[in-house]
Amino acid sequence: MITAIPETMSAVCLNDDGRLILCTKPVPHPGKGEVLVRMTAAPVNPSDLARIRQVKEAGGQASFIPGIEGCGTVVERGPGLLPRLWLGRRVACSAVLASSGTWAEYLVTSAANCIPLQAGISDDQGAMMLVNPMTAVAFLDIARSGRHKAIINTASASALGRMIERLAAIAKLPLINVVRNEKQKAILINTGSGNVLDSSVESFTHELQELARRLDATLILDAVGGNLTRQLLQAVPYGSSVLVYGNLSGEQPEVDHRSLVAENKKINGFYLANWLNEGGLLRKLRCIYRVRKLVKNELPIKVQRRFPLDQAQQAVDTYLGNMTTGKVLLVPPSS
Ligand SMILES: NC(=O)c1ccc[n+]([C@@H]2O[C@H](COP(=O)([O-])OP(=O)(O)OC[C@H]3O[C@@H](n4cnc5c(N)ncnc54)[C@H](OP(=O)(O)O)[C@@H]3O)[C@@H](O)[C@H]2O)c1
Repeated sequence: MITAIPETMSAVCLNDDGRLILCTKPVPHPGKGEVLVRMTAAPVNPSDLARIRQVKEAGGQASFIPGIEGCGTVVERGPGLLPRLWLGRRVACSAVLASSGTWAEYLVTSAANCIPLQAGISDDQGAMMLVNPMTAVAFLDIARSGRHKAIINTASASALGRMIERLAAIAKLPLINVVRNEKQKAILINTGSGNVLDSSVESFTHELQELARRLDATLILDAVGGNLTRQLLQAVPYGSSVLVYGNLSGEQPEVDHRSLVAENKKINGFYLANWLNEGGLLRKLRCIYRVRKLVKNELPIKVQRRFPLDQAQQAVDTYLGNMTTGKVLLVPPSS
């Protein structure tokens, strides 16, 4: 049932010191092709933290609401066919290119940024259905179209890392998991992962070189950057491709001349929204179809804790304290 829409809402915003606080904002209204979503849950992702950092640096705090993805019910619509179809439906939604964010009671976004949820998907899982599952599907697509025989992923204890592993297993594509410490290595091995390497040990580069050559792993997915990028480039076979998709170290990816020139290795960036746009409507629809099919059984994401919106700063601090434990969700008061 769609209830009356208030004039104002609670939303997370940044105070002058750059801390996350609760504030009151006008409820936005949807324009052409847009919908208003009453939010029920939204995760904290590394991309949210990067966006918050950028906004702080640019000084654009005043109008900013964080949160790139989430889940909720469409309660108002602008003109257009998709908005009409989505009205009243529970959707996974993204705030990419939207003026508001998902860490709020309401979000206005393009109807094209929403996917209706099947009955068996919880709000928590629905809230995390777009960014990581679609990226995992994209990576397997890239591996397949590039005819790679094996892939290497970094920060493999992440939610995305676990999804890449499940999809690689389904595709029977060998995967080398790189993690940053012994504890993460143990977690992965205890849950059945093979080929797990710890980048903090001295023998890492040598072990990676041996394994990458043996499996012919020529697609490298790098979420970390900094010196790890250089280590990966140097260890992998002639002609390999490194795809930088995250910057968890906060350091610029390092490269070396010999790898690029003498060994014909390539380095590129990956951003899901660009990849989807570059592939046109067909790629987007295919990706949505696969994610909807996989999300229930193959791609569940562990949640460590849920926080109300007014504890957003605590939620972020908890998440940063141990990202591997699971995702942290923000939940509006009315949910
Ligand atoms: N480019 C794109 O379109 C795209 C799309 C989706 C995701 N991503 C990226 O994918 C990555 C994983 O996202 P997620 O949501 O799956 O993350 P997540 O579940 O929150 O987990 C993050 C993982 O990274 C580890 N980590 C943190 N800092 C690290 C560092 N400096 N070196 C190595 N490991 C580190 C964490 O370990 P601890 O527990 O020890 O902190 C944790 O295991 C992020 O970089 C994200 O930005 C990119």
